[in-house]
Amino acid sequence: MKKTHIAAIAAALVASTPMAFAQAKVKVGFMLPATGTFAALGTAIENGFRLYVTEQGGKLAGREVEFVRVDDESDPAKATDNVNKLVKRDNVDVLIGTVHSGVAMAMARVAKESGTILIVPNAGADAVTGPMCAVNIFRSSFSNWQPGYAMGEVVAKKGHKKVVTITWKYAAGDESVKGFKEAFEKGGGQVVKELSLPFPGVEFQALLTEIAATKPDAVYTFFAGGGAVKFVKDYAAAGLKKTIPLYGAGFLTDGTLEAQGADADGLLTTLHYADSLGSARDNAFRLAYAKSYKLQPDVYAVQGYDAAQMLSIGMNAVKGDLKKKAEFAAALQKAKIDSPRGAFSLGKNHNPVQDIYLRQVVGKENKLVSVASKSLTDPGRGCKL
Ligand code: BEZ
Repeated sequence: MKKTHIAAIAAALVASTPMAFAQAKVKVGFMLPATGTFAALGTAIENGFRLYVTEQGGKLAGREVEFVRVDDESDPAKATDNVNKLVKRDNVDVLIGTVHSGVAMAMARVAKESGTILIVPNAGADAVTGPMCAVNIFRSSFSNWQPGYAMGEVVAKKGHKKVVTITWKYAAGDESVKGFKEAFEKGGGQVVKELSLPFPGVEFQALLTEIAATKPDAVYTFFAGGGAVKFVKDYAAAGLKKTIPLYGAGFLTDGTLEAQGADADGLLTTLHYADSLGSARDNAFRLAYAKSYKLQPDVYAVQGYDAAQMLSIGMNAVKGDLKKKAEFAAALQKAKIDSPRGAFSLGKNHNPVQDIYLRQVVGKENKLVSVASKSLTDPGRGCKL
């Protein structure tokens, strides 16, 4: 028999044995932004994910991990094509992505149709763990509702009555403001004006003039990445920082403080991570991340790291066989994920049930002030799981 035939028979035998999963590589498709206003967020997520895999010796459930990547440019118009490249062209076993809520919704649609496991390591689109929820879709991050709702409670308790909101006009901005408004108005406040501009615009001047003219007690905002840097600087330059307190979902000051400098000093935000948690778990993670990348980690790095942990938990439960989706999901459903943010579990809709921290910018850090909302559970409106 020819050598090539022997090799083919051997390969077929290996593929038909239970050991096949232990031997074949698991193909992980990263769909993240590598360009645009969220580029740094995509890098931090990938860094965090890779760090966890490296800590496991490069293998999950005995399978070596192979990575394929697509730059999604945070562009919803290209999202379906981009995710199909990973699913149909590259035949990935798992999808990891993304940052932008609009892009994530397209990923969730394709994941649901194709049955591919999807772990969302940032995008908060409420729909992903709401009406679009599915047995194979998970989130390691947050829903847009969560940090917004927590901040609504904080601002109401501070006694502010009239608030103006300002954000990008897309799912993340709209839903963050909606969560804020729900809690703030429950607490007796009123959102008197909702300002917005198209994503990823940074022409804030006219809107800042409108805020100055409205004279609210406070402003609530959602911006992230490069846009957050510019907004915080423009808010201070317009003289508003001294007269109207600015509050935000924590993305406003996460991964951005080097560039924002003193203009961010003192800002209060809510998020599921802070720079000074001080737990042994977080300290070890921060040290390992700093050693590997010569950078301090941020919330995006944590979410990437935890996406890899979640994949590992699910894969161990099914001994590497990613076709066993119900068993994969059941394992995650009962898991406590040992995150640097503090251990969390997943709600029925596969979104983290987690503490939301109130943080304050001191120098180059988002320092922990208090737990704003303990074990905050996303309502998962519209999810039928
Ligand atoms: C989002 O589009 O969901 C998002 C983007 C950046 C930070 C947080 C949320």
